[in-house]
Amino acid sequence: MRFTHGHVPLFLFLCALVWSCSEIVHCKNQTLPQSEVDALKKIGAKLRKDWNFTVNPCSGTSGWVDKTGAVNVKCGACTANYCHITSIVLQGQNLTGSLPDEFSNLTSLQKIDLSFNYLNGNIPAAWASIPLTDIELEGNHITGRIPDELGRITSLQYLSLESNLIEGPLPQSLGNLTNLLGLNVIANNIIGRLPESLGHLKNMTYFLIGGNPITGKIPSFIGNWIQLYKLEIRGTSLEGPFPPIFFSLQNIVDLRVSDLKGGDGKFPLLQNMTNLNILVLRNMSIIDELPAYIGNMTMLAYLVLSLAIHSSFSFHLG
Ligand SMILES: *[C@@H]1O[C@H](CO)[C@@H](O)[C@H](O)[C@H]1NC(C)=O
Ligand SMILES: *[C@@H]1O[C@H](CO)[C@@H](O)[C@H](O)[C@H]1NC(C)=O
Ligand SMILES: *[C@@H]1O[C@H](CO)[C@@H](O)[C@H](O)[C@H]1NC(C)=O
Ligand SMILES: *[C@@H]1O[C@H](CO)[C@@H](O)[C@H](O)[C@H]1NC(C)=O
Ligand SMILES: *[C@@H]1O[C@H](CO)[C@@H](O)[C@H](O)[C@H]1NC(C)=O
Ligand SMILES: *[C@@H]1O[C@H](CO)[C@@H](O)[C@H](O)[C@H]1NC(C)=O
Ligand SMILES: *[C@@H]1O[C@H](CO)[C@@H](O)[C@H](O)[C@H]1NC(C)=O
Ligand SMILES: *[C@@H]1O[C@H](CO)[C@@H](O)[C@H](O)[C@H]1NC(C)=O
Ligand SMILES: *[C@@H]1O[C@H](CO)[C@@H](O)[C@H](O)[C@H]1NC(C)=O
Repeated sequence: MRFTHGHVPLFLFLCALVWSCSEIVHCKNQTLPQSEVDALKKIGAKLRKDWNFTVNPCSGTSGWVDKTGAVNVKCGACTANYCHITSIVLQGQNLTGSLPDEFSNLTSLQKIDLSFNYLNGNIPAAWASIPLTDIELEGNHITGRIPDELGRITSLQYLSLESNLIEGPLPQSLGNLTNLLGLNVIANNIIGRLPESLGHLKNMTYFLIGGNPITGKIPSFIGNWIQLYKLEIRGTSLEGPFPPIFFSLQNIVDLRVSDLKGGDGKFPLLQNMTNLNILVLRNMSIIDELPAYIGNMTMLAYLVLSLAIHSSFSFHLG
């Protein structure tokens, strides 16, 4: 902090202190609107019968925590009279049943994390009205298509649906999620081509789609994702080779590709990806020499190459 401008920084500092204290005092009494309590009761009846409504849901205490101590419900977005539920996290709690529509009554909800349970049914289209940044549903039994309506959640930054039973194509509407930073749909039954609209997602940092029978060529819009640091396309039905623009992406740290059909037999031109830390290339029908520049990739810690069908090696560096 600089003090050269007289008392202004100190003044701001004191204001910040007073403001944050009153915020804390206020947030100790986190009164929820009745509509959110009602919605939470419905969600609880479906997912979590042991939530204790004689205790304040925002309290983060007994009745609102897992056996491990993880807090289920977080509140925030407080105004003079009320706070709102901003996060619901129920990871690995053996939950069964379907995904409740009633999350949509929580009008300030940012995060839904129901990973590693036994939840089934479809992703509710009703969720499209929630200002979510984060949907984490990894490791459940969710079926059906990704609803088109998900493309309306323009606040969404992270969507993880790994290891479910989701089918159908990735909807075109996902291209409207311009704040999306990460998409993980590994190990589902997603079919069809990657929609061109995904090329609008300039902030994409990870794109993980392996283990789905996705078809078509690797799209050249992937070159728009200049922030991309992790790409996983193992075990899809995509066709190579990589579009040349892919090799201009310099932020890639983790690249895992296998089983691409229709490659050109050449080792990919990775010399500009100097930040590579993990490189996995398997069953790509590459019949080529290992390029010398790989030896110059000082960040590379994990390398698995299984090049032609019968020649393969792997080793760990550093
Ligand atoms: C909490 O806030 C509500 C509504 O503003 C009020 O009725 C109640 O008395 C407050 N409780 C405490 C302990 O301050
Ligand atoms: C949730 O929202 C729906 C649609 O707006 C409404 O019909 C329903 O009454 C609300 N439920 C609760 C528990 O507030
Ligand atoms: C719910 O919380 C209240 C207040 O702490 C407590 O008296 C009651 O026993 C709890 N109910 C259950 C079912 O744990
Ligand atoms: C989930 O079920 C398994 C098997 O019954 C059990 O070992 C585990 O403790 C349960 N987990 C929770 C969080 O209740
Ligand atoms: C994306 O958003 C625009 C503008 O809101 C809308 O017109 C368009 O239909 C949306 N695209 C899809 C595929 O949903
Ligand atoms: C990407 O992120 C930046 C910074 O967080 C944000 O301003 C921008 O609106 C986002 N979306 C696009 C399409 O760039
Ligand atoms: C690597 O970067 C250099 C310099 O920017 C550029 O001329 C070259 O075309 C790039 N190579 C590839 C394979 O993208
Ligand atoms: C190698 O990839 C091809 C698709 O190019 C696939 O059909 C085949 O099953 C894969 N082989 C192995 C051993 O995974
Ligand atoms: C590896 O780095 C050394 C030193 O910077 C450089 O002289 C050499 O040309 C590089 N080799 C390749 C194949 O890029």
